[in-house]
Amino acid sequence: MAYTPKILCFAGSLRNDSFNKKLVKIAMAGAKEAGADVTYVDLKDFPLAVYDGDVEAEQGIPENGMKLKELLLANQGILIACPEYNSSISAALKNAIDWASRPAKGEGPLACFKGKIAGLMSASPGALGGLRGLVTVRSILENIGVMVVTEQVSVSQAAQAFNADFSALLDEKKDASVRKIGARVAEVTSKLFAEEQSLQKSGSR
Ligand code: FNR
Repeated sequence: MAYTPKILCFAGSLRNDSFNKKLVKIAMAGAKEAGADVTYVDLKDFPLAVYDGDVEAEQGIPENGMKLKELLLANQGILIACPEYNSSISAALKNAIDWASRPAKGEGPLACFKGKIAGLMSASPGALGGLRGLVTVRSILENIGVMVVTEQVSVSQAAQAFNADFSALLDEKKDASVRKIGARVAEVTSKLFAEEQSLQKSGSR
């Protein structure tokens, strides 16, 4: 790879046994195989109260919000597996995005999202695999300046979809598609950021 991309991977679920946490780790393996430098984080380790403008005005962005922003700033790619709650994005993911989207002192708007490359997936015990929620996740990310790759996978009947140690999906084609999302994010990120670096070196940026 022309440039080793750094990719942050997490799920939009807080649940310890989350299918989405297991799923994003499969995509993460795909990104790693493709040459990316990958980091997995659990949103449960960054508890955040529901966004409140008064809290922000009085106390600023909470410590865990700042930690998430720093992680996002340190990575160029993002892999997210998000459960579908009532046909939409999970509150945990939306709240994390809302806090991270707030500018720290001296920071430009949406600094930790603009220009990032993301790949999305979902898992659900239901028949649709959570695909309706991803429509919202994609829309939110694109509206805050994230380029979301077109590849996307939703895993239905999630309770029966994984192998014994959750390192792969039993359906080989689906497993390959999930790994491909990771590889695609790695590839696109590498190409774009290599170009960005060479433009910076030549003084065009
Ligand atoms: C759900 N679930 C669910 N599933 C689905 O396919 N479509 C839906 O709209 C919803 N809605 C929904 C709302 C709420 C409040 C909960 C708690 C759950 C079921 C959901 O997919 C299931 O709990 C998954 O296991 C959640 O993902 P994790 O935690 O396994 O990653």
